[in-house]
Amino acid sequence: MANLKVVPGDWKKWKGETLMAFAFQEDAPHALGLGPEGSRLSLAAKRDGFKGRERETILMRPEDHGPAARIILIGLGKKEDCNSETLRRSVPAALRQAEQLGLASFALRAPELAKSPSAQRQEVQALAEGLLLAAYRFARYRSPSKEDPPAVEEAILLLNNVSADARQSLERGRIFSEATLRARDLINEPPSRMNPERLAAEALKLNQPPVSVRVMDKKELGKMGMEAILGVGTGGAVPPRLVEMIYKPTQKAKKIVALVGKGITFDSGGLSLKPPQAMETMKDDMSGAAAVLGVMSALSALKLPLEVRGYLAIAENMPGGRAQKPGDVLKAFNGKTIEVLNTDAEGRLVLADALSYASSKKPDLLIDIATLTGAAVVALGHLVTGVMGTDAKAVRAILEAGRDCGEKFWELPLVKEYRPDIQSKIADVKNIGGRRGEAGTIIGGLFLQEFVGQTPWVHLDIAGPSWSDSDQPYCPTGGTGHPVRTLLRVLEGI
Ligand code: BES
Ligand code: ZN
Ligand code: ZN
Repeated sequence: MANLKVVPGDWKKWKGETLMAFAFQEDAPHALGLGPEGSRLSLAAKRDGFKGRERETILMRPEDHGPAARIILIGLGKKEDCNSETLRRSVPAALRQAEQLGLASFALRAPELAKSPSAQRQEVQALAEGLLLAAYRFARYRSPSKEDPPAVEEAILLLNNVSADARQSLERGRIFSEATLRARDLINEPPSRMNPERLAAEALKLNQPPVSVRVMDKKELGKMGMEAILGVGTGGAVPPRLVEMIYKPTQKAKKIVALVGKGITFDSGGLSLKPPQAMETMKDDMSGAAAVLGVMSALSALKLPLEVRGYLAIAENMPGGRAQKPGDVLKAFNGKTIEVLNTDAEGRLVLADALSYASSKKPDLLIDIATLTGAAVVALGHLVTGVMGTDAKAVRAILEAGRDCGEKFWELPLVKEYRPDIQSKIADVKNIGGRRGEAGTIIGGLFLQEFVGQTPWVHLDIAGPSWSDSDQPYCPTGGTGHPVRTLLRVLEGI
């Protein structure tokens, strides 16, 4: 997790050595929020070649009457393209400057761009998120190096008005970010450590009012008739688990929302073994479960008036003497039978039990989050989540919340004419489609639909965005914690 604290500061009272501020890429540059002094500074910066491109920085020493002895400008790109995600992506440049300068604390002038109070709240929250998410490192297994910059402890966000509203937005930024970082930590942990037992133990850590956590072990899963999750787990040394986490608000709940996460702590493919390269990042196959756990960890701080039930469908998918075999038939919790033709399509198996269990409790909305198909990465790349579902309103809410949070979503159709592709000759359904994996992501969605009954449902295939192969402005290489922030925002809007 990050140790950084983001605190508000009063711009009118602030005095200090070093000040950071933003500037657009405009013909007449202006350091935002610094008043007339800002344009003088910006012109000087421009003379020194500063263009104000996104995340570009320049350090200046305005010898005479500047607002500080040392000023660092951070580019925001073109004004017309600037939104809260621009701030989230640009503000990490301030943190990196503070690291380079060895500052334990630094002050940053908020740009205060938005006119409406709600947009202003979003702006402050985005700045806090950009800083807190960018401060994350997963360094637990690395010897400290001299090149590592010392951690920055505090960022002071300088505002015109340190209102209760502004404080609340910073606090929301902190809650959203910590939930995301919790998910990242779970994903980044090596797979033999973050095995089914450990992932369930991490969920149990949240077992205190208003959240209650129950772990169903192998024996209980057997009693309940959950052969699908058990089938996936048979090859692994550590048995599978289904975790149920229930958050109950203090007031009467407006609605009940269930979140189901795919929690494959390692996906080797099972007997339908993956090639080595495809396995390299398969510790991230529990990112859906990690996202659900992250969301659950934030609910009491947000005081949400909903009942939220989180389900983690946890197993390791391994080959071995007891591993399930192509040709096996499993009976899921809702009574439907599944012919397993490819043991690497295991996510939909664990979700078959978890979704039918969750929907048997009749929530008002059911959302599953899963690194389900490589086909989603082919169709949408590593930045976009595939959205499918039977609840058009909830789909729309997710697309919209994603835009606010800087997380990308795109809807794919659940084409019912493709349903025959998963028709089995000997069971109710088979776990892969036909024709060389055509429409693989939609086929995955159609399979899951068999297990949600009439419950309004949305499926998020996060196979692309769950993991980043390169360092990003506010996420280092590794687990991203996508789509924790979007889900929190969706829940707030219900
Ligand atoms: N966990 C994988 C999906 C995946 C692939 C996630 C690449 C992230 C990156 C999933 O269990 C899987 O292996 N799916 C198969 C399904 C196929 C056998 C129908 C796939 O995508 O190849
Ligand atoms: Zn798989
Ligand atoms: Zn998988």
